[in-house]
Amino acid sequence: MSNSTLLEIDKNEACVGMFIHGFGKQWLNSPFALSQFKLSSNDELKALRESSVTTVVIDLSRGVGPRGSASAASKTRQNLVSGGGAAALSQATGMVRSIFSSANSPKGIDRQQVEAVVDVVDELIGTRPTAILNLTKLKTKDEMSFQHSIAVCALVGLFARHLKLDGKLVRMLCLGGLVHDIGKVRIPTAILTKNGTLTAEEVEVMQTHPRKGYDMLARGSGLPDLVAKVCLHHHEKVDGSGYPAGLKGEEISVAARIVAICDVFDALTSVRPYKRGATPEAAAAMMATWQGHFDQMLLKQFFGCIGLQWPDSRKRPMETTDLQPGLSQPDLDDFQFATPT
Ligand SMILES: [Fe+2]
Repeated sequence: MSNSTLLEIDKNEACVGMFIHGFGKQWLNSPFALSQFKLSSNDELKALRESSVTTVVIDLSRGVGPRGSASAASKTRQNLVSGGGAAALSQATGMVRSIFSSANSPKGIDRQQVEAVVDVVDELIGTRPTAILNLTKLKTKDEMSFQHSIAVCALVGLFARHLKLDGKLVRMLCLGGLVHDIGKVRIPTAILTKNGTLTAEEVEVMQTHPRKGYDMLARGSGLPDLVAKVCLHHHEKVDGSGYPAGLKGEEISVAARIVAICDVFDALTSVRPYKRGATPEAAAAMMATWQGHFDQMLLKQFFGCIGLQWPDSRKRPMETTDLQPGLSQPDLDDFQFATPT
């Protein structure tokens, strides 16, 4: 744990010169691509104050503190937050890299390592739920698949807790969220990293990753069958148009339906070196318009979990172009591996 002193303050107490360490309530609505930075201009301050973020966590060791006096300080919630989220995430990312690498070797999937990463994520979402998701929001090119896995694991953990699911089930869902894309280690790099649109044949190869992942998990990983099934069915859609089995509605396990929502939400909202992420509102509103893709009841619950209103159906549906030029729904299935054009 870091010794730095972190202080949670109301956004209206923020001023230029403060170092933003993270966001408190409504963290998903941060107007900034970075979760940690120094507030350096009045424009940034204005953007913060006009956002629906309510509180920010500042690092007193890296910037100025709240202005004024004891009276201002007394209004400030003295919510000291211990550091260490970034270090824990970095450690977890290294472990996921190792899991993916060993999965593609004769050694296979190391269950203990998978469990250890979920322990780290579980600790973070139990003590600092905003921190891990702020940290995973910004993905580097190299780490994207690993950080996406961790982010999905964390989102699934938060969502499953929100649904008040049994603790053992929450754990299995987190395990599934972490390894849902592990089959991609068996997809040729040329396809995973291809610039631009995949050909029909390449899409076909890409769409084998749930089955490849399932085979890897089912053959001796020691992980529960539910975890392997989540991997197998995370691209199924409730209208039967998904893959690999074209399952419909309740033929798809609740676990796979939960992971599917978290997988797409993280992919849409992630900031990458070559694209800005969609805002949580834009991503969620778009997902709500994709008829037949997600379990609508679960999706509504997910909105509640992340503090968003279910969209008004009378409004114009969010256009795909609100997200990223050239990105259409089918491309989203695997676009986390797309590279800059
Ligand atoms: Fe996938």
